Amino acid sequence: MPIGTIHSARSVFERRDGRRVSVLDIQQAKRLGERFVMLTAYDALVAGVFDRVGVPLLLVGDTSGQVVFGYRDTVPVTMDHLVPLVAAVVRGTSHSLVVGDLPFGAYQESPGAALAAGVRHLKEGGAQAVKLEGGRRVVPQVRTLVQAGIPVMGHLGLTPQSVNALGGYRVQGRGSAGEALLADAQALQDAGVFALVLEAIPADLAGRVTETLEVPTIGIGAGAHCDAQVLVWQDMAGLTPGRLPRYVKRYAHLDRILEEAARAFAEEVRRGAFPSDEYSYH
Ligand code: KIV
Repeated sequence: MPIGTIHSARSVFERRDGRRVSVLDIQQAKRLGERFVMLTAYDALVAGVFDRVGVPLLLVGDTSGQVVFGYRDTVPVTMDHLVPLVAAVVRGTSHSLVVGDLPFGAYQESPGAALAAGVRHLKEGGAQAVKLEGGRRVVPQVRTLVQAGIPVMGHLGLTPQSVNALGGYRVQGRGSAGEALLADAQALQDAGVFALVLEAIPADLAGRVTETLEVPTIGIGAGAHCDAQVLVWQDMAGLTPGRLPRYVKRYAHLDRILEEAARAFAEEVRRGAFPSDEYSYH
């Protein structure tokens, strides 16, 4: 049976001409009021599943620092970690728009550094866009990337690359900080971002940003008023162990399924049931 897709026939993202989703489709979705999703992906097989069901945006995030490479946070991640993951996700997909994250240290220094990193994601990885964190302070970087023809996704609110400055993973934008975030969002739109991630901010504030901007907002812990929602795929599918932030909904329990499979494999080998004749060459 063919795998069902997550879009109706009238969706902006319905597969057309075998081409990938473009940044224009993403912006058209906002104009038409069509809600959509982004998921993270870090390898060809998982990305292929999301591509087949029609997830329009795949982010090769620096969350790979935690969920792929086992670091405590995203700070140690480099372009050398991310570029091969981007290339794998691109090779495993044909429909989704693939966004390569710019990791901590790859763009803060100068617009030139941002451009060099962005070019790597597009040329070596095959990504169609990049994402970076920050507001008005990264406007020169965004402008340079956009002028070079590299679509940019912004990221405001809880920006995990700044975890050391923020003093932990806390909700952002409360009280007067909300006005500053709104000004950052406007500045990023003026600089040319095609979409904006809003992480861990009050739902009301995310609603105000969403109403104000012409580009779509993609929320994670930012309530229901955003144009789109994103989750880290291992959180969404229940593979990440332990307590997760309040905003994560587990749509499956892959951890239990994998544990069961690994136990059954080990048990069958121990008692000599695997490999049986069926799984042997003659
Ligand atoms: O790196 C990442 O995966 C992200 C998402 C959580 C938005 O920035």
